[in-house]
Amino acid sequence: MSRSNSKDQELRDRAAVVIPGGMYGHQSVGLVPDGYPQFFSKAEGARLWDADGQVYIDYMCAYGPNLLGYTHPGVNAAYVRQLEIGDTMTGPAGVMVDLAEQFVSMVSHADWAMFCKNGTDATSMAMVIARAHTGRKTIILAKGAYHGSAPWCTPRPAGITPQDRANQIYCDYNDIASLEAAVAQAGDDLAAVFAAPFKHDAFVDQALPDPAYARRARELCDQTGALLVVDDVRAGFRIARDCSWSVVGVKPDLSTWGKCIANGHPISALLGADKARAAASKIYVTGSYWYQAAPMAAAVETLRILRDSDYLERLVSLGNRLRNGLAERAGAAGFSMRQTGPVQMPLFLFDEDPDLRKGFAWSSAMLERGIYVHPWHNMFLCAAMTEADIDQTLAAAEGAFKHLAGVAPTLGPVEKLAAFFH
Ligand SMILES: Cc1ncc(COP(=O)(O)O)c(C=O)c1O
Repeated sequence: MSRSNSKDQELRDRAAVVIPGGMYGHQSVGLVPDGYPQFFSKAEGARLWDADGQVYIDYMCAYGPNLLGYTHPGVNAAYVRQLEIGDTMTGPAGVMVDLAEQFVSMVSHADWAMFCKNGTDATSMAMVIARAHTGRKTIILAKGAYHGSAPWCTPRPAGITPQDRANQIYCDYNDIASLEAAVAQAGDDLAAVFAAPFKHDAFVDQALPDPAYARRARELCDQTGALLVVDDVRAGFRIARDCSWSVVGVKPDLSTWGKCIANGHPISALLGADKARAAASKIYVTGSYWYQAAPMAAAVETLRILRDSDYLERLVSLGNRLRNGLAERAGAAGFSMRQTGPVQMPLFLFDEDPDLRKGFAWSSAMLERGIYVHPWHNMFLCAAMTEADIDQTLAAAEGAFKHLAGVAPTLGPVEKLAAFFH
């Protein structure tokens, strides 16, 4: 088992000259274990090929956009059909209205839809609409939650001023008292409460939403006139065929979507209730590529498949097979690995691993065995995975646990990561 990385290294060397830091954002150099490929050459179904041609079962799914399998033939055919007819034009194609109608028919809180490109566009629009709707400034966010890379929400402080982050109050996710305290602190200036569909922060165990917390967030917004925003950019359609908080019976006023809604083609969405329609029609938001028709056609086909197929039930069944199999193999090898979050979006952290040495070493051993996992970020299953893929993953895991037992991991990745975020 020895992987080659000569093409990857050559690309890294060239990138170091012409791309700041060699790469940026969540792809920045050094965020995954040494030896992980930076560059990829191909992706199909559940599999990903690195620049040197080695193939992996991919549990990152492009950090979310791949839901039905890479290069899905039906979705891509819809994309190409529209691309050949007209894509970026002087105005939108009719497919924009089809897509808005389809979203409104699937997502129960939504009466209208707006489309943009990235999740950050959608979350930033939600913030602006909430302020336009209420005439107030303050937004409440959960500590550690990720809502994008704009100055108001980026996790890295370089270049960001206190003014960019003004009018924000932080609470603890799933902690009603902390949410109530934040609402009290906002006084008569509360514009919005943002909520992740579940706690899917990096580096820490994930937590499902406490229904009582979600209901209290709804009540507090109703009492104060603020808007409730569910940020479904990452989890949307991986938890439900509706907004993810439909599983706890709470309807937000706004929800933000992105990542997988066109199975990898570039489009995101903001959905809203009638209450916020007037404010949404008053703000100025746009982009040169926001009306691109081909990703909209891909989204229409993706949503049709989500509505008509058993993709979600398959994801859950595969996720349970993975979780149970890993727990068994970790236990047999004498490791205690915490698997948190919904089974279809798992995060793995080892007990007694404060600086992630075990997690990094185990992930590297998985990569060596053809499985791409992440040591500190939640992962994603896709509907192109099969039971055989899960079993291949479990066989690799058995080897990776054995490897971990025999080698004292020497990496100290946490200091490097801490330096990145501060
Ligand atoms: C919950 C959540 N919100 C917003 C975003 C921002 O999306 P994008 O990277 O497409 O701008 C992300 C991206 O990971 C996300 O996970």
